Amino acid sequence: MTEHKDLASIGVVGLAVMGSNLARNFARNGQTVAVYNRSPEKTRALVEEFCSEGNFIPSESVEDFVASLERPRKAIIMVQAGTATDAVIDQLCDAMDDGDIIIDGGNALYTDTIRREREVAARGKHFVGAGISGGEEGALNGPSIMPGGPAESWETLGPILESVAAVVDGTPCVTHIGPNGAGHFVKMVHNGIEYADMQVIGEAYQLLRYGAGMTPKEISEVFTEWNSGDLDSYLIDITAEVLALEDAESGKPLIDLIVDEAGQKGTGRWTAIEGLQLGVPITAIAESVFARVLSSATAQRQAAQEEQLPSGEVAAGISQLGIDKKAFVEDVRRALYAAKLIAYSQGFDEIKAGSDEHNWDVDPRDLATIWRGGCIIRAKFLNRIRDAYDTNPALPALILDPYFKNELAELIDPWRRVIVSATQLGLPVPVFASALAYYDGLRAERLPAALIQGQRDYFGAHTFKRVDKPGTFHVEWSGARTISSL
Ligand code: ATR
Repeated sequence: MTEHKDLASIGVVGLAVMGSNLARNFARNGQTVAVYNRSPEKTRALVEEFCSEGNFIPSESVEDFVASLERPRKAIIMVQAGTATDAVIDQLCDAMDDGDIIIDGGNALYTDTIRREREVAARGKHFVGAGISGGEEGALNGPSIMPGGPAESWETLGPILESVAAVVDGTPCVTHIGPNGAGHFVKMVHNGIEYADMQVIGEAYQLLRYGAGMTPKEISEVFTEWNSGDLDSYLIDITAEVLALEDAESGKPLIDLIVDEAGQKGTGRWTAIEGLQLGVPITAIAESVFARVLSSATAQRQAAQEEQLPSGEVAAGISQLGIDKKAFVEDVRRALYAAKLIAYSQGFDEIKAGSDEHNWDVDPRDLATIWRGGCIIRAKFLNRIRDAYDTNPALPALILDPYFKNELAELIDPWRRVIVSATQLGLPVPVFASALAYYDGLRAERLPAALIQGQRDYFGAHTFKRVDKPGTFHVEWSGARTISSL
């Protein structure tokens, strides 16, 4: 085993894009970083290319890597999520001592994190599942970090993570989220919200492009303008850039050359599944996952085109509907804002439900704070969310905060108009529309759930409650139809 005079304060295992960039970020911020990758070429390449950025201690075996860390040892795993993570944890546990800390910085399913923490704790070490958002650029220049695991580990780990996280108004975008799987759960929902945020932007683009007949360049300018108002965010900013780019070879807008099948790595799907399991209506997030899935149903989409599924009477553009372009653009902006608000409100509901279920005590203010910088959903709007939970930490739903309620009063009419127009144009707006259905559902004095209870009692004797008296009731549907109290 190699002896090291200077030990590393932190180690990174897995030196693909995210791992390398995170290791460089640590080095640039004055940490001595131990680096190890299963294939040693990547380790050598990293150190060769970036040794001028700071202190790296490269190793070509897990044992050497562990020996190069100061105690308590802290190693961040940045390998492919799944079995690779388990394999690396096992190797690290073998080589490490009691009290050392293993951090999983990948996108692990939080239930795996809970299991891994239990297993690692049984072997005397600490395990921290940490969500890291910001993509390659964030990993290098400052991500938003969501660590779970024992509070004790945070004491040791906190200052090191704070040294590399993004900083907004002097506050680092990292905090201890809660025990065991809390960090990865919150990262999962963050990604679910990201899916919805991207989809509502996509729906706005679709309406402006194929409803208002605007060019990608014109729409890019609209997004740039939107980025200076309530919608100011990283995603709106990059959207403007994507839409502005022309393919040098063909001279066409790049957007028209990109195959319209959206990929996914699964965190949005997990958020939707978990929402269903916890009984939280995360409709905007689920619809955004379905929208990606539909886009990738290539064979069915092709068949639907070939078979010319009937559209009914649809307008070719907003002028046929007598709608002014400028007014439409502003309506679409407001509809986007409203649907986005619903997506965030639902995401925060899911985090609360998960936190209650697992006794994590996650503070929504922390999330609004650490998501303001570094991560993909970073936006000015998160300051408003933080204010909302500051004013009332027990807010029943984000949209019930007085500020957001006032905003919705301004958004609701344009939001309805846009959905009507989208229907008349035959353009799909699944998140705009389902978010409004959720909103109207929440507001409704009476829901058809009463009828569903009646049906359930009819075919399954599932009983029902009454609005006018306490107790549980059942109707003898097959007989005299008398209503009895049970
Ligand atoms: P990216 O950051 O590009 O998204 P990834 O696909 O999530 O990367 O993870 C790739 C990393 O996981 C690589 O460092 C890979 O090691 P190799 O360079 O040796 O392929 C690492 N990895 C994958 N399976 C592994 C395993 N079973 N044991 C150790 N490392 C593994």
